Amino acid sequence: MTDLGFEGLNVHWSTSEDMHEVEDGSVQSVITSPPYWDLKDYGHENQIGTADESYEHYHDRMEAVWSECYDVLKDNGTMWVVVDTVMDNGDLQLLPYHIAERAEDVGFHLQDMVAWYKPTAIAGMTARNVVNKKEYVVFLSKSKDFKLNIDSESNNGLEDPAISEERLLGNIWRHPVKRGSAGKNVLHKAPYPISLIDRIVRLSSDEKDTVLDPFLGSGTTAYSALNLGRACIGYELNKEFEDIIIDRLSDLQQKSLTEF
Ligand SMILES: C[S@@+](CC[C@H](N)C(=O)[O-])C[C@H]1O[C@@H](n2cnc3c(N)ncnc32)[C@H](O)[C@@H]1O
Repeated sequence: MTDLGFEGLNVHWSTSEDMHEVEDGSVQSVITSPPYWDLKDYGHENQIGTADESYEHYHDRMEAVWSECYDVLKDNGTMWVVVDTVMDNGDLQLLPYHIAERAEDVGFHLQDMVAWYKPTAIAGMTARNVVNKKEYVVFLSKSKDFKLNIDSESNNGLEDPAISEERLLGNIWRHPVKRGSAGKNVLHKAPYPISLIDRIVRLSSDEKDTVLDPFLGSGTTAYSALNLGRACIGYELNKEFEDIIIDRLSDLQQKSLTEF
């Protein structure tokens, strides 16, 4: 474990297939974006999802992570997996749905497949004939009775007046992707937008709750959790992210120094 010097943050530089360091039943929500099978090489020999790993083997290893997440979650906890379909030799693999099935196999209840609409997505990012403007947020719960702060996020915006009049949360969320949002050092090519993670943190937890990310990367979940007064535990294999995370979270410290 590394204490990066930020109150409320613990990072483990090891595989999230084994999270014995975290007490069972202590985490309120798991918020993550895993490797999208073989889409990107994150440069660690033990990483999940590489070019020569079969799709089944990838899911076997991911299932071990989902099982650990299940154990560390509180009974009223939830798990949110931001992930997309991937092209495999000209065929679309329904990766988010297969992740949902494997998570259900370890005991999770599937609550929804939220569509994250990316209005700023451009052509050419993946080998598709149509421009892919959405990803998925797989929304799961440990039990049927779970914490969901629906009132914190019920404003769906002007484009959906029927829903917003009733103050109900819809399952299509619009969050534009900002380029270079991981800071100057863009080792990480797949950070998700902070607005999306802020929304999930507020929905799934209260202040002082603990949020866990088993694939921490450049630390977007940590940034959002700490900024919103939650504690955060992260697992990440690639220690090269350490400086990036420290850099991002220092912004937060600067911000809080100027706010008070
Ligand atoms: C899609 S990225 C996460 C991006 C992150 N949400 C962010 O904001 O930067 C997936 C991450 O999982 C890490 N990873 C791959 N296999 C892992 C494993 N077995 N245990 C922990 N981390 C792993 C990779 O190094 C990569 O940083």
